[in-house]
Amino acid sequence: MRPRGVGQEGASDVTRAVDRRTALRLGAAGLLAPALLGAGGRTPRLPPGQVPRFAVDLPVPPVLRRSLWSGVDRYVVTQRQALQQVLPPSLPATPVWGYDGLFPGPTVHALRGRPVEIRQLNRLHREVSVHLHGHASRPADDGQPTLPIPPGGERTYYYDNDQRASTLWYHDHADMRTSPHVYRGLAGVYVLRDPAEDRLDLPSGEHDVPLVLQDRIFDVDGRMVFDDNGHTDLLGDVALVNGAAWPRLAVQARRYRFRLVIASNSRPYLLGLSGGRPFTVVASDGGLLERPVVTWSLLAVMAERYDVVVDFSEVAVGSSVTLVNQLETGRMHDLLRFDVVRRVRDDSRVPARLSDIPRLVPADAPVDRVWRFGHSPDGTFVINGKPFDMDRVDARPRLGSIEVWELRTQGLGFFHPVHPHLVRFQVLSRDGRPPEPYERGWKDTVFVGEESVVRIAARFGPHLGRYVLHCHNLVHEDHSMMTQFEVVKP
Ligand code: C2O
Ligand code: CU
Repeated sequence: MRPRGVGQEGASDVTRAVDRRTALRLGAAGLLAPALLGAGGRTPRLPPGQVPRFAVDLPVPPVLRRSLWSGVDRYVVTQRQALQQVLPPSLPATPVWGYDGLFPGPTVHALRGRPVEIRQLNRLHREVSVHLHGHASRPADDGQPTLPIPPGGERTYYYDNDQRASTLWYHDHADMRTSPHVYRGLAGVYVLRDPAEDRLDLPSGEHDVPLVLQDRIFDVDGRMVFDDNGHTDLLGDVALVNGAAWPRLAVQARRYRFRLVIASNSRPYLLGLSGGRPFTVVASDGGLLERPVVTWSLLAVMAERYDVVVDFSEVAVGSSVTLVNQLETGRMHDLLRFDVVRRVRDDSRVPARLSDIPRLVPADAPVDRVWRFGHSPDGTFVINGKPFDMDRVDARPRLGSIEVWELRTQGLGFFHPVHPHLVRFQVLSRDGRPPEPYERGWKDTVFVGEESVVRIAARFGPHLGRYVLHCHNLVHEDHSMMTQFEVVKP
């Protein structure tokens, strides 16, 4: 069976590989949810049909303000609870956990080569840990589950930003509690820029907009309902963009750059535009692609980021285009509506060549390690048959060495977005075939479908020490689909 809505223009092997079980559950979630009860079984769930769509303007998270600059950009962030109008104003406000009380958190703007220090104060009643996803941090600054911030405590994280410009994101990484913490709101965008990239004249300023895609279940009091389906998947029935349910964005008839951040706990997206409009992918997790990729469908799973350029210049003023998830039918198909409001001059462009991406190894290079992502008989998710153990290290790549890793899913029923910390890698192949054109740049998270084999290559560095490798379905991650590797001296 094929997820419905997939199969027209642009659908390809990778889309076919989104597993059957997810497709079924995606369909079932919308039908069953209204009948079920909310948190604690007391408050009824909010039927998603009661949430008006395209009734609110897309919020754009504020840019985090520097507290000090002295060669290092210094920031202070307080993690705390707050009430936020996530649902349209005709419905109740939602209690969230936010960085500075915001969901998503404030956007950090960083410049390549200029270090950033973020002092994180934990004013929540749980241990937290902050991971900057996509940044090559030292182990002590990597926000691993092994280094939590206690309630009332604080920790200062240092990021040297000595890497390619790209869209990163920061999120909670508490031991076995990442899924509920991110669900309540602990995630934000971190844009790393580079003057060389700015000279390409891609859309910028107000025409460069982060879009954080998530999904949630609500109860009738506006609270988020955490239901991870017996520790398998957490699928909402309300689509959120930048922390607002089904928003709309007034756009000018020109090009925009959208930085798509898939921050859903368990939901995959096959992104497209209504009316079969094409769009252009310019960057992936690790920054600019070599060349722009024009597509009608973009598979983006949890934790992946893609920057796309959408050109509204051909769209009649007064009409709309909708960003859709082609894996869905029903209400979850539509995510965000763009309303084209006026014609303007557009000096931006998408150059035919965006960057250079030297290949690390040939596509058929021999495999150094195999990682099997499976399900153990007791119901936990395991890597090479084992659950996470903070005291165990499963691989010791040498500093500066290039390794080819084979990522395999075992058994039917689940796909896994696989994410090693520290490195950006190249995808060599998926099931013996080349990856999608938009996956041929630098990546830090990769879709591994049901019964699938993906090969990646990475150079291990620039830091020594222990890092985690895990599935970015946050439910799987918390239920132990995580392991550690240690970069050792050559
Ligand atoms: Cu976004 Cu360890 O992950
Ligand atoms: Cu998984």
